[in-house]
Amino acid sequence: MFIAETPAPREIRRAYDLWSYCYDLVAAPGEADARRRALDGVQGRRILDVGIGSGASFAGLARRASAGGVVCGMDLSRLMLRRARVRLGRQRLSPARLVEGNALRLPIRGGSFDTIVSSYLLDLLSTRDIAGALAEFYRVLRPGGRLVLVNLTKLRGDRTTWFERSYEMLPSIARAYLLGGCRPVQLEPLVTAAGFVATQRTVVRQFLSSEIVIADKPYVQNGMPRAA
Ligand SMILES: C[S@@+](CC[C@H](N)C(=O)[O-])C[C@H]1O[C@@H](n2cnc3c(N)ncnc32)[C@H](O)[C@@H]1O
Repeated sequence: MFIAETPAPREIRRAYDLWSYCYDLVAAPGEADARRRALDGVQGRRILDVGIGSGASFAGLARRASAGGVVCGMDLSRLMLRRARVRLGRQRLSPARLVEGNALRLPIRGGSFDTIVSSYLLDLLSTRDIAGALAEFYRVLRPGGRLVLVNLTKLRGDRTTWFERSYEMLPSIARAYLLGGCRPVQLEPLVTAAGFVATQRTVVRQFLSSEIVIADKPYVQNGMPRAA
């Protein structure tokens, strides 16, 4: 479901500041399976989690970064970052690399990361902003780097689900506060359009079905893209 209008970043930030009080109880558990399976796609030592939320994937990422690895988490919402910090503290992981930032303007040098993970973030952006975020992910990954996305999706592109109907009926602000702003998407075509290669999509059936989309930033050889 591709829509032009999504809530403004300041609304999303406010909504997720509020969501931070109940996110782990209400939203996170139903999505755990897809989030866990997506981690199998992670490669390399320098890993960025964009839209880290309360840090549900972060411990797994930190363990996957081999000794000396850098795992960095970013989010728009300060209170979500605070939740993530508490979670990392409980697991005795360093909270040093949690930063406030916007997926549409990553405050990071190009080519800095081996893998970018982003779960349940792009499905709350407008179609234009999804393309903007993918362009930022492309810039920040090294050549041959890996993108791992997890999003709400639907099994059949030609059917409107009850969730989409509810989403459509709500004004955009209520979407953010009641549904977290998310709706089902099918991101593979946009990922390919952003220049990524070797794209794979896996659908995970859960209460709200999710897709895992894994793709690589090509190496460029003799001016032609080449998969990692
Ligand atoms: C649905 S939650 C997902 C959190 C986490 N990745 C997970 O799987 O549990 C979406 C998160 O993305 C953050 N977010 C929304 N828009 C963002 C943006 N433009 N840049 C960075 N983070 C954003 C929200 O604050 C929220 O914490």
